Amino acid sequence: MKDRNSIRLASLVFVALIGCILLFDSCSQPDSTVVTRERISINDGWSFYKYDAESDADSLIYDVRPEIDNPNEIKDADSKPTEAVAAEARQMVLKPWILPSANDFINDPKKKHIRPEGHPGSDFPFVQAEFDDSGWQNINLPHDWAIEGPFQTGWDSEVGGGMGRLPVNGVGWYRKKLEVSADDAGKVIYLDVDGAMSYAMVWLNGKLVGGWPYGYNSWRLDLTPYLNFGGENQLAIRVDNPNHSARWYPGAGLYRNVWLVKTNPLHVAQWGTYITSSDVSEQSANVNIEITIKNKAQIDAEVKAITEIYALDENDEPIGDVVAGFEALFSSVAANGKATVKSSVIIENPRLWGPIPTQQPNRYVAVTTIKQGGKLVDVYETNFGIRVVEFDPNQGVLVNGKHIQLKGVNQHHDLGALGAAFNTRAAERQLELLREMGCNAIRMAHNPPPPELLELTDKMGFLVIDEIFDSWETKKTPHDFHLIFPEWSEPDARSFIRRDRNHPSIILWSFGNEVGEQYTGEAGAEVAKRLNEIVKEEDPTRPTTLAMNYAKPHMELPVVPDVIGLNYQGEGIRQDPEFEGTDRIRTKPQYNAFREQFPEKVIYSSETASAFSSRGFYNFPVTEAISSIARDGRGGDSKAAHVSSYELYAVDFGSSADKVFGMIDRHPFVAGEFVWTGWDYLGEPTPYYQARSSYNGIIDLAGFPKDRFYLYQAHWRPDFPMVHILPHWNWPERIGEITPVHVFTSGDEAELFLNGKSLGRKKKADFEYRLRWDEVVYEPGELKVIAYKNDEVWAEKVVKTTGQATQLLARADRVTIAADGKDLSFVTVQVSDEEGQLVPRSNNPIKFRIDGPGEIVATDNGDQTDMTAFPSHERNAFNGLALLIVRAKGGKPGKIIVTAESTGLKEASVEIRSK
Ligand code: GAL
Repeated sequence: MKDRNSIRLASLVFVALIGCILLFDSCSQPDSTVVTRERISINDGWSFYKYDAESDADSLIYDVRPEIDNPNEIKDADSKPTEAVAAEARQMVLKPWILPSANDFINDPKKKHIRPEGHPGSDFPFVQAEFDDSGWQNINLPHDWAIEGPFQTGWDSEVGGGMGRLPVNGVGWYRKKLEVSADDAGKVIYLDVDGAMSYAMVWLNGKLVGGWPYGYNSWRLDLTPYLNFGGENQLAIRVDNPNHSARWYPGAGLYRNVWLVKTNPLHVAQWGTYITSSDVSEQSANVNIEITIKNKAQIDAEVKAITEIYALDENDEPIGDVVAGFEALFSSVAANGKATVKSSVIIENPRLWGPIPTQQPNRYVAVTTIKQGGKLVDVYETNFGIRVVEFDPNQGVLVNGKHIQLKGVNQHHDLGALGAAFNTRAAERQLELLREMGCNAIRMAHNPPPPELLELTDKMGFLVIDEIFDSWETKKTPHDFHLIFPEWSEPDARSFIRRDRNHPSIILWSFGNEVGEQYTGEAGAEVAKRLNEIVKEEDPTRPTTLAMNYAKPHMELPVVPDVIGLNYQGEGIRQDPEFEGTDRIRTKPQYNAFREQFPEKVIYSSETASAFSSRGFYNFPVTEAISSIARDGRGGDSKAAHVSSYELYAVDFGSSADKVFGMIDRHPFVAGEFVWTGWDYLGEPTPYYQARSSYNGIIDLAGFPKDRFYLYQAHWRPDFPMVHILPHWNWPERIGEITPVHVFTSGDEAELFLNGKSLGRKKKADFEYRLRWDEVVYEPGELKVIAYKNDEVWAEKVVKTTGQATQLLARADRVTIAADGKDLSFVTVQVSDEEGQLVPRSNNPIKFRIDGPGEIVATDNGDQTDMTAFPSHERNAFNGLALLIVRAKGGKPGKIIVTAESTGLKEASVEIRSK
């Protein structure tokens, strides 16, 4: 299957040729039907096998790993990292054969790796073409082998709460036959892997090609020397994913897209274009391009590179004619070498890229044509945007001259019930909901995202912090990146930036999150300086940043990055009196101290809040404070493993949303914040490690907004009329008891009524972000709120005591989806009373059925403690809601009917059309 891009490429080549004729009379007209480059998805039709236990696995290991005596996973995220433990190899390891895969990303020629002789593993059955894998599982990529579960419960489970209680650990093999036609002889055939979790090693026709250990980076291997042109080829990929390697759910296997790329020997190198802009205004912009051309042939080549620019629409289609063309560039490229050519062009009246909602995310595509002796040999497209981002220590971030407050969230890479297996629609849905909340920025915590996610942030107009490491030399978990840091930090850092540097949405490069080197003074700063230099060599146009929860203004580390990212320190850490005299890390609010020490640097909060809540769950009493730690009796319920949605409770080192808003508003030089986190994620279920997913999200794992969503919306979208009441009003056991009512509104005042009686009109004071009626005595009936802005009615909301649950209601987020085997419809099922109101606290078991050309991929409900495996067609509602994810079958359009039923309730169904 060819991807859409290669089909579009053909039409662009045609357009480019016309443009070429108009702009360069020197260019002769090549044959527009020549296919010079193909990028072919090889996601479908793999065989997969995983050893039952890690101890059963073959010995084709990348390297030995240290033994773990104390995994100690339940420690505070902000605990001091510990010393790395060395392990000695007493057996043959494959590392020397894998390291050369990094060579393109190592600058010092002396440090490049030389491949030893031979092909370890070549006699192993799984890499042989003849091996019978008919008993293996048939799967399509992206594939996350762990997401189907089962969840591992209990305190002594192999994979604990930290990594999501799913079977991520172990060794898996993927096999696929590739047909490469004899006509392709003479071409170069690459394998492009967008991400494999982790320690991937690749054999082709029994020969070890190479591999890449870090699970989040994208990489390429040249298959050509091992290929059988005109015949069948056996590809085999071994993935070895260690337990205790992350503080969250990493996913497992070939969890992103995999491609075959066919080029001529002379071609644009991997991520071989680099486009920047300078002197940008609404009238004109200087667009600069650097093109790296690779010559895989045995003879030197003379090349001509022509690049033309088109405006792109939101469907990635070029709009209209060529906007500008770079002058033709000439170079000679040595045999087996590469060369880089540079040029710039002025674009008049550029359509600037800018963040939503105040600016437009306009994009362009540069189409580069490479010719050798008049013959067209390659056409390569680069999407980019023209914008100017400035970092001003007094105001923060300015895009195209306009100040943009960072209203950001952190996001881990999993897609809830779909796991780490990337799906564009699921990622788009995450961004759509965040946008609705008023979020304009995403921090990719703590590792490079799939490339398609950055296409989405470009297209949808989010500002992005692209981040690469959660640990350097010092370890946070026994098997994390520190094990491979010495050999891989440079290639991973360089490949990360080369892949991503054309994305207009990226405004900052973060090369570390809360690294242990914060604690090691000058030595830690030396490591930081080396990484910082690498990042700057690869992209001098964007500032660097580090997220620091411990380093203080007088220490060495914050001197290194251009921009200061603070995790929790801005607001202060563990300032509550109960931490006095304890050995816990305590930090007074740091914004001013950092500003005094670094008056020239922009400061922002790379992580704030780490607040907890379980959607629709409330407990009493409610703290009178604006922010509190979570404990039993203070928002927490350790037995139920839930935290109250009054949205006032946070991790010990964190703060409520309200407190963070107040601190940022009091320090207007702070560029903004990135909340930990936008969505709940798998793993790291602080404070209740018996659970499987986090409590930090503003949106739960299923995609249902928690009350906090409206608190952020009220603050981040001041012009959007809205008001929200909490809690629900079904408290038969609380009649006569104090049951506080809190209201979130983008207005400035509100009046609350209980059963028609006013409970008073309240106005937000300075630095107040919610209105609270803390003395309300519960009686069933109706709560009504009228919000005002500038004394005018602004928004209204009613919350009623509901009747008994009598029916299910179902609603699909999209009723027409593509019949491409990838597109998804997310169906929300609600337990309702006769009037159609959501019945809170209802946890009815629901069964799902599907008819037609679709399948149920997963179900969820957002309950962090629900251990029902995600693919199950039966799931309890959690506080009134459940989610069903439907995928249309590829190539089979038709009518899909989904039905939800539950004993004693009227069933619900929705119709989805796949086209
Ligand atoms: C931070 C850390 C995040 C996450 C968060 C949870 O310290 O950077 O990755 O662990 O705490 O509260």
